[in-house]
Amino acid sequence: MEEKFELNAEDLELESATFLESARRSRAIWEDLPLNPGNYRVLTGERPTGALHIGHLFGTVANRVRIQALGATTFIVIADYQVLTDRDTAEAVGTNVHEVILDYLASGLDPENGRTFLFSHSHVPELNQLLLPFMSLVTTTELDRNPTVKEEIRAAGLRQVNALMYTYPIHQAADILFCRGNVVPVGRDQLPHLELTRKIARRFNQRFSPDSPIFPVPDALLSDLPVVLGTDGQKMSKSRNNSIMLKMTADQTAKAIKSAKTDGDRNITYDPQNRPEVANLLRLAAICSGDTPEVIAERIGDGGGGKLKSLLVDLLNAHLAPIRERRAEYAADPSYVTDVLRRGVAKAREEAIQSLKLVRRAMNMDHQIE
Ligand code: TRP
Repeated sequence: MEEKFELNAEDLELESATFLESARRSRAIWEDLPLNPGNYRVLTGERPTGALHIGHLFGTVANRVRIQALGATTFIVIADYQVLTDRDTAEAVGTNVHEVILDYLASGLDPENGRTFLFSHSHVPELNQLLLPFMSLVTTTELDRNPTVKEEIRAAGLRQVNALMYTYPIHQAADILFCRGNVVPVGRDQLPHLELTRKIARRFNQRFSPDSPIFPVPDALLSDLPVVLGTDGQKMSKSRNNSIMLKMTADQTAKAIKSAKTDGDRNITYDPQNRPEVANLLRLAAICSGDTPEVIAERIGDGGGGKLKSLLVDLLNAHLAPIRERRAEYAADPSYVTDVLRRGVAKAREEAIQSLKLVRRAMNMDHQIE
């Protein structure tokens, strides 16, 4: 790895200062969002690297469904170009986009409400054009310093860094600002990207449109989302093969949970510090039942890991049953999924065309050539 991509103490310090400040603003938004949903344009999304698992469902996706229910307009970007930051094949992208949309719809994101839009950024040319002016507002030193990019380079074991990996945080700013999004529900790892987006918005306004700002300076919306562990006790992640996918059958789910790592102590207690695997199973059971992990632990008592797993299998399969049923219905109608994407892209383009027009005007590039 090139030396400049190694994390250092200064990065970490900057990161925690940013986190505290973002968390403060985020709390204020959580308070105001239910009262004034009309003031918020929510933009978030992810790379389409495959179908979703329960870690996604209980984390980011449930959170989006919650925000959607508050009445804000919500854009979900499926960042398909970004797949190519740390791998050199796009072979599975088409299928993955389809799978992700099925999982979103099954989980309750609802484009039929007229306020929720799912789109792939590869299909919004005007969004991508924003990348050029935005690149002029960022220095290479700023790109060198991005701790999340560094971490991704490390995790993927890259020896060479392609220019898309290097610049995708600027592309992400375009994902957010093209629709003039002002709230971005993300995890802590995405804060460096959001900080850059905020700088780009500010710098664009100052440099090109000081009298009437074109872009809002967006805020992160942070939440205490549960981190779900996989069957091996590591963070659930499809690439680790330790996941319970939304699209699994009830039997596959039972088999996966029965194989999950626990510890030798038959007396079940909720002790996240010392018994992370058991605590994870208890938390999942808690989410599905509405009871607390402590209450469930007490109920199992010295029934051991086996009893805990049987209970979780029943609770989780019951919780996922309606989601899986809806997923199967949507999967039987691929043209509906295409239609959701088409409508999302059409709305995204409308927004992007409008932004690009304002940007060109501000930059004295609205040449009257027609
Ligand atoms: N970088 C994000 C991830 O890896 C995905 C993403 C792309 C995103 N564009 C975005 C997230 C805009 C929030 C807003 O998960």
